[in-house]
Parts: sequence; C-alpha cells; structure tokens
Amino acid sequence: MKLGIIGYGAIGSFVARSIKNGLLKKYRVVLVFDLDREKLDKAQKEGFDTTDNFDDFLNYGFDMVMESASQQAARIYLPDLVKKGYSVLVMSGGVFADTAFKIHIEELAEKNNARVYVPSGAISGLDGIEAMMFAGNLKVILETRKNPRSLGREDREDVIIFEGGAREAAMKFPRNINVAMALALATEHPENVRVRIISDPEVKTNTHTIIAEGNSGKMKIVVENVPFPENPKTSFLAALSALQILKKITQSFVIGG
Ligand SMILES: NC(=O)c1ccc[n+]([C@@H]2O[C@H](COP(=O)([O-])OP(=O)(O)OC[C@H]3O[C@@H](n4cnc5c(N)ncnc54)[C@H](O)[C@@H]3O)[C@@H](O)[C@H]2O)c1
Repeated sequence: MKLGIIGYGAIGSFVARSIKNGLLKKYRVVLVFDLDREKLDKAQKEGFDTTDNFDDFLNYGFDMVMESASQQAARIYLPDLVKKGYSVLVMSGGVFADTAFKIHIEELAEKNNARVYVPSGAISGLDGIEAMMFAGNLKVILETRKNPRSLGREDREDVIIFEGGAREAAMKFPRNINVAMALALATEHPENVRVRIISDPEVKTNTHTIIAEGNSGKMKIVVENVPFPENPKTSFLAALSALQILKKITQSFVIGG
C-alpha cells in the first residue's frame, strides 16, 4: 500500500518511522507533505520523499493517505483528496464537529468510492460504544484530565475549564479534544455525549474517563495516556491508534472494532 502523509509532526513522523522500521509490512510511505521547511528537512534526512506543494501531493497516486496536520488542514485538503478517490485516515477528527462538512465528505466518499477513517485516537472502547448503540438509550460522559501545561495554563489546583456538548468541546479545544468527536461519531448522536475538561496539576498523564450507559448496560473506561515527548498535547496512544487502523484496513481476518 502506497501511503501519503500530510503533516510530519509527532504523529506523522512516528507513523512514517514505524512503517520504515517494518511495523506495518504492507505499507510504504511514498510521499510526505508539510508546509514547514524544518519538518520537510527532517523527513528527508529520515529517508522520505517530500513536497511542500499540495497539488503535487494530490496528483502523486496513493492507496491511502493519512492526515496528521491540523483540523484546519483537514478542512482544506479532505474534499480534494476524497474527490480524487483516495481513502483517508483523518487524525484531526474534530473537524467533523461541523455536521455539514461531515455530510459533504461522506457524500463525496460514496460518490468517489473512497473511505474516510477516524481512529480511536487517545481513547479506547469505540467498538463497545458502537455496539451499545444498537440497544438504544445510549448516554456517554467523557471526563478529560490534563496537566495545565498541556493546556497552556498555569493552574495550581483543579479547574473545570469546559463542560458541555461534544461538538462544542471539539470546536473550542481543537488540539486537545479530538476524542470527544470520535465518541460523538461512534454514538451517531453528538448530543448524547457530554464532555468535562479538567485542568489538574496533579496528573502527569492525559487521562480520559468514559462512562457509557444504555439499554445493554454500563461501561467504564479509564485511559491514562503518556504524552508524546515530541508534542505533549498529543498522547502516545493516538499515534499508535493510527498504526492500528492502518493495519486493520489491510486485514482479511479482523478482530474487534
Ligand atoms: N484523534 C486523536 O485522538 C488525536 C490525538 C492527538 C492528536 N490528534 C490530532 O492529530 C493532528 C496531528 O497531531 P500532532 O501531534 O502530530 O501535531 P504536530 O503539531 O506535532 O504536527 C503537525 C504537523 O502538520 C503540519 N501542518 C500543519 N498545518 C499544515 C497544513 N495546512 N498543510 C501541511 N502541513 C501542515 C505542521 O507543520 C506539523 O509538522 C492534530 O490535528 C491533532 O489535534 C488527534
């Protein structure tokens, strides 16, 4: 599988190196696109072909593209990528908080025989939540605790910095809360996902507690994520979830979600 990567930051570079090191045998990273010269130099030093021109990237010819840049980048590039028939793994899933954009991309994907993948990212349990949805009455609560530093704050005690719906959380905290949108997409009803974000000076990990309750029962998941050394706003698990979904796409024997 020829993989094109948009954004050679913490996630993009990790995935590219992992593939080069043989973690996903069916993939080859054929081109990296970034607008930052330093990132492109780094990618070249690490053995990848690069471009800073989106049109060149678009016309290269891939089996799969991974967006690991930003919500803004996803919004700009996704329509063209999908029109071209590329399947895209979208790390900046918060972009789908805009329902009109999500529907537009879904329609384009259907028309052009492409697929859009949103990974579980910094959380886990989306498979269970998608299953619970069939039984109905599903309500999900996401409580995210982060160290003030990774939120760009200097709090000395717990501060609830946000409480509200998943869509609003993804829009207000685009760098931090893609997970809220992943949950909202899994439930198919964003209004059933409530989000609380707490700045907590005691935590060293990015901690997400998910409580899902519906007609089939109750599920509680606590994920304590080690921040990525290259970018403490990103959890290590998020980069690993990209590998997981890329692997799943190529499998003929599929386990779980
Ligand atoms: N789904 C999740 O759970 C989850 C978790 C962590 C991060 N993310 C998201 O994944 C994305 C990547 O995260 P990261 O930690 O690797 O970020 P990063 O800041 O380390 O890297 C982003 C890279 O993309 C490049 N870039 C930004 N805008 C661009 C554009 N318009 N065109 C081309 N390149 C562009 C930057 O130069 C940079 O090299 C972010 O949007 C982040 O919010 C999602």
